Amino acid sequence: MPNHFSSWVAHQQTQFEAVLRNLLPSAELSPQRLHAAMRYSVLDGGKRVRPLLAFAAGELAGADISRVNYAAAAVELIHAYSLVHDDMPCMDDDVLRRGKPTCHVEYDEATALLVGDALQSLAFQFLSEQQLSDSPAKQLKMVKLLAIASGSRGMAGGQAIDLASVGKQLTLPELENMHIHKTGALIRVAILLGAHCGNGLNDAQLDKLDRFGKLIGLAFQVVDDVLDCEADTATLGKTAGKDADNDKPTYVSLLGLAAAKEMAQRLHSEALESLNEFGDKALRLRQLADFIVLRKF
Ligand code: IPE
Ligand code: IPE
Ligand code: MG
Ligand code: MG
Ligand code: MG
Repeated sequence: MPNHFSSWVAHQQTQFEAVLRNLLPSAELSPQRLHAAMRYSVLDGGKRVRPLLAFAAGELAGADISRVNYAAAAVELIHAYSLVHDDMPCMDDDVLRRGKPTCHVEYDEATALLVGDALQSLAFQFLSEQQLSDSPAKQLKMVKLLAIASGSRGMAGGQAIDLASVGKQLTLPELENMHIHKTGALIRVAILLGAHCGNGLNDAQLDKLDRFGKLIGLAFQVVDDVLDCEADTATLGKTAGKDADNDKPTYVSLLGLAAAKEMAQRLHSEALESLNEFGDKALRLRQLADFIVLRKF
């Protein structure tokens, strides 16, 4: 296993890309257009932050990578589906994603809708068709965790709050609640699912890991808000300035750029504190936390 963070990331991204390529239905299989659009929306793009967090948590819990790959793929498929729907004209109305035309632009709106539907089901197929835990009860719990993180009490609920908040000034707790759901929930569950593929952590340790996930998941969206305002479209691979255009409440619109950045730093420090007891074994998670807060795209 490569020692350097950047080599570890490159190694995991490459092996995971091959896993996804292999697990997604072939574009030659009927219905070809839907399968091609699914592959278009998932493959060859994205930072794969959620899978990387799952791999790091899996390493901490002594999990077998072949198990974590399925759990990571399940979360990444839900994430990819959320992006396809997020970009549709009825939501953020965006034309660029991961440096390519968005799914509904490259294909059409009905296909984009179905891509989301199909990726969501496939995610649960991945979590349930292989043995991912030594205990069937624990694996059932993993399925439930992903269901909650994706649904109306998780990502989809956060997206609903986001849409209902256009043009409104939210309070800080309201904004935090929206971000914790729309983005935080999937990041948090990626870490838990990675850990649940192994047996190395007790309940108190899993709680610490979950606290890390909650804080770094929120920090991730604070940074996304900052980048939307500060970075350019070419670097982001998605349209910069979209939040202001769409009149979305964000950490930047509520607090200003400097305070939003401070907030991300504060969340980062608190997240790292929750990893203290793991010592060197949490190195990868710490490095990923640094990446999440320092990233430029
Ligand atoms: C973008 O997520 C959408 C949010 C939840 C903020 P990412 O920044 O992880 O997008 P990709 O997967 O790297 O494209
Ligand atoms: C997206 O938030 C959150 C989900 C897709 C669940 P954004 O709307 O800010 O994401 P980007 O900036 O379009 O990637
Ligand atoms: Mg959105
Ligand atoms: Mg968007
Ligand atoms: Mg954004």
